This record gives sequence, C-alpha cells and structure tokens, in this order.
Amino acid sequence: MSNKMWGGRFTERPDEIMEDINVSIDVDRHLYAQDIAASKAHAAMLAAQGIITAGDAKNIGKGLDTILSEITKGSFEFKRALEDIHMNVESRLSELIGPAAGRLHTARSRNDQVATDFRLFVRDTIDDIDASLAAYQQALATRALEFAGTVMPGFTHLQTAQPVTFGHHLLAYVEMAGRDRGRFLDARKRLNESPLGAAALAGTSFPIDRHATAEALGFERPMANSLDAVSDRDFVLETLSAAAICAVHLSRFAEEIVIWTSPLVGLIKLSDKFTTGSSIMPQKRNPDAAELVRAKTGRVIGALNGLLIVMKGLPLAYQKDMQEDKQGAM
Ligand code: ARG
Repeated sequence: MSNKMWGGRFTERPDEIMEDINVSIDVDRHLYAQDIAASKAHAAMLAAQGIITAGDAKNIGKGLDTILSEITKGSFEFKRALEDIHMNVESRLSELIGPAAGRLHTARSRNDQVATDFRLFVRDTIDDIDASLAAYQQALATRALEFAGTVMPGFTHLQTAQPVTFGHHLLAYVEMAGRDRGRFLDARKRLNESPLGAAALAGTSFPIDRHATAEALGFERPMANSLDAVSDRDFVLETLSAAAICAVHLSRFAEEIVIWTSPLVGLIKLSDKFTTGSSIMPQKRNPDAAELVRAKTGRVIGALNGLLIVMKGLPLAYQKDMQEDKQGAM
C-alpha cells in the first residue's frame, strides 16, 4: 500500500509523531478564502489555455464554491491527516466532483500555492489594519479637538517640563499612526506580485498564463523569479515590521494612560467601561485595558523576531521550516 498523499516509493504511513508536527491545518485553515480564490483563478486560466477542459473548470469552480460555503457555514470537516488547507480543500473537491479535482493541481505546487495564499492574506490584513488605524486617528483627532484648550504638563524625564495642551499631545499619536499606515501601504505595494506559476521552484512546462492569474487575483504582475517566488517571506517580515513599530506606538500610548490614571499623577479618569476594580481595595480603578494593550503589543514584536529567526538560515528554495511562517502572522 502506498502513502495516500505521495504514493510512489512510499510504502509506510507517517509516524504519529511525524503527523503531529507536520500538520499546519490549525493555523493555515485561516487561508481558506484565499486558497479557494487562487484555485478558481488557476482553474479558469488552465481552461483558457486549453490545459484542462472548460467542463472540468466549471465543475472545479462549482465544487470550490460549495467548499467555501461549507467552511463559512462551519460544516466543513478539517482533517489533520490531510495536513494543511490545500490538501483539505483538494480532498473535499475530489469527494464532490471526482477525478477532475486532481486536474486543478496541474502546473501548480503547494509551494507557489501557499506563497500566493499568504500574499493575498497579508494584503487583506493590511487593508483591515489600514481601516482600523484610520478610525483610530479619527477618534484621537475628535478628542484632540475637544481638548484643544485643555492645558496639561508636558514631561521630559517624567518631570514636569512645559505646559502643553491635551489636544496637542493626542495629535502626536495621530502623526505616528499616519506614518504607520504609510509603512503598511508601502509593504502592500511591494508584496502585490503573484507567485503562481513558479510551481515547486522552477516553473512548469505547461503553457500557463501567469499574467492572467496575476490579474484575476488583483496582483500588479507575476513575480519575476520562480525561486524567489516560493522561497522568500520578506513580505511578511515587512508587514510584521510595520506592525511592530505600530505596536511600539500603541504601547507607549498605553503606558501613558497607565501613568496618567495613577492616583500619584491623577491627570485623567478612564471610563468605567475600560477599568476594573477590586472588592478588597474599593479605592482602586485599574487601567487593565491599557495594560493589556501594552502586553499584547509585546507579542507582535515577538512575532517579527520569531519569523526573522525562522528565515535567516534557509537556503533557496522552499524548506519545510517555512510552514511555521504563518504562526505569528495570523
Ligand atoms: N503547508 C505547507 C506550508 O505552509 C505547504 C507547502 C508544502 N510544500 C512542501 N514542499 N512540503 O508551507
């Protein structure tokens, strides 16, 4: 009996421990929407190029739509034995439409597939972050206007230095958030190229149209070098760098809120909605929300560090280490 995934020379199933460390479905299941969108684009291109039939492409597209709705409804059964999102989707597709499912993987490898999915995911995430940061700036600016004439001490060395206004102070964070947004958008521009067609590492001899899939997925162009396309994760590193810097800004603001609310300083009172108390020490108003922001931002910085360390020793092209790339980014 050959292994159900690779067949060929394999006669034994993977050891249980191997299966356990090999699975990535718990993390990469979050890529389902991107995986399905990329597969639909790939199937349509294969048909347009005459590599698979129009009938197969239609069935593949319909099957993928069914899978998408099963996943969003929560009825899709993710199987650990199928390792990752790509094989979970493909296996369900073959249950739904039979042998045509296998033809979807023509001229493609999981290596260019995961690179594509992850780029799409990071791009979507950047768009969400940009909207959140815009709302954050708006909220700060609204408060700044409200407190444009409210004098407070400006500090250096945490010593009272010169009078400023609370509005002026808040607008400093609006500026930081503006540069954070710029960094995210800059990363977005550079990541917006399509790895599809790089296949495992060296491309494919099938007459594929890389421009068609790139365009269908909203990428600017196909990536120029197939080895680069499957082996670099600098787009994640750049995005995490932008996130880490943004996290530092948020953490500093959180730290200031903690200081300002301390009875020793007593500059502001945080709303009850973001404060906790103590039954044994009824005088307390703990700034938990700010403390949690300060703590959670540490994990963002950790994620950047983690991925830098995963990537730094890897020769080209794909190495399995790279499966751990998504952990901190999701
Ligand atoms: N789950 C894998 C990952 O995220 C997909 C790529 C697998 N490729 C391979 N050559 N084993 O990296």
